[in-house]
Amino acid sequence: MREKLVAGNWKMNGGLAENAQLLEAVIAGVAGLQGVQRAVCVPFPYLHQAQRSLQGTPVAWGAENVSQYEKGAYTGEVSAAMLLDFGCRYAIVGHSERRALFGEGDGAVADKFSAAQAAGLVPVLCVGETLEEREASVTEAVVSRQLDAVIARCGVESLAKAVVAYEPVWAIGTGKVPTLEDIAEVHDFMRAELAKSHPDTAEDMRLLYGGSVKPSNAAEIFAVSNVDGGLVGGASLKAADFGGIVKAASEG
Ligand code: 13P
Repeated sequence: MREKLVAGNWKMNGGLAENAQLLEAVIAGVAGLQGVQRAVCVPFPYLHQAQRSLQGTPVAWGAENVSQYEKGAYTGEVSAAMLLDFGCRYAIVGHSERRALFGEGDGAVADKFSAAQAAGLVPVLCVGETLEEREASVTEAVVSRQLDAVIARCGVESLAKAVVAYEPVWAIGTGKVPTLEDIAEVHDFMRAELAKSHPDTAEDMRLLYGGSVKPSNAAEIFAVSNVDGGLVGGASLKAADFGGIVKAASEG
């Protein structure tokens, strides 16, 4: 049985003073909710702060990216082992902003997934189509290609211990959300494709939806078949909104 997961992705936002307030409010806002795991993924410099604030609470934390390399002459990179030093449980890999703005291709994303998982982190693999791709009716081909790169690199079973987040690029930060039918179609497709050859892995893989999730739409999205929670950007910066979304998952 997959427990729902709601993870915040702060992106490049925050500061020591505002984070302290936000983290405290997040802890209070999601206290006592049952049947849902919660986490926040924060910028690297704030991992220590997240660890200090969140350890011993039911809120896990993670990073928004991780290097595919283990150690050495990779200026500016942060390894999976370093993330573990700060108690991270999760590392987002392949977010569409990293793919689009920082040139991360499917191969690099698969390497990051592999490095994270090998070190003991839970990779949160983001997949999803652009508006152009949706209009060209190649959504399923795009998410298959993105998943297949990881399967080729890490083996299909690797998905059982990972989280996959379907984030249509055009729904991120735009307030536009696909119809519930569209969300169901992609989530059903991903699980069904995997189930053809690896039913147990397909059953265990957690599939989140991401893209303009808010307290007002969370309950209906989380009720969609094969949606196991959400990856939340903008709304995770407001404790009341994040709390509302976690609550929707706990009731769903
Ligand atoms: P928004 O919730 O701001 O649309 O961002 C979604 C996202 O990119 C989470 O990773």
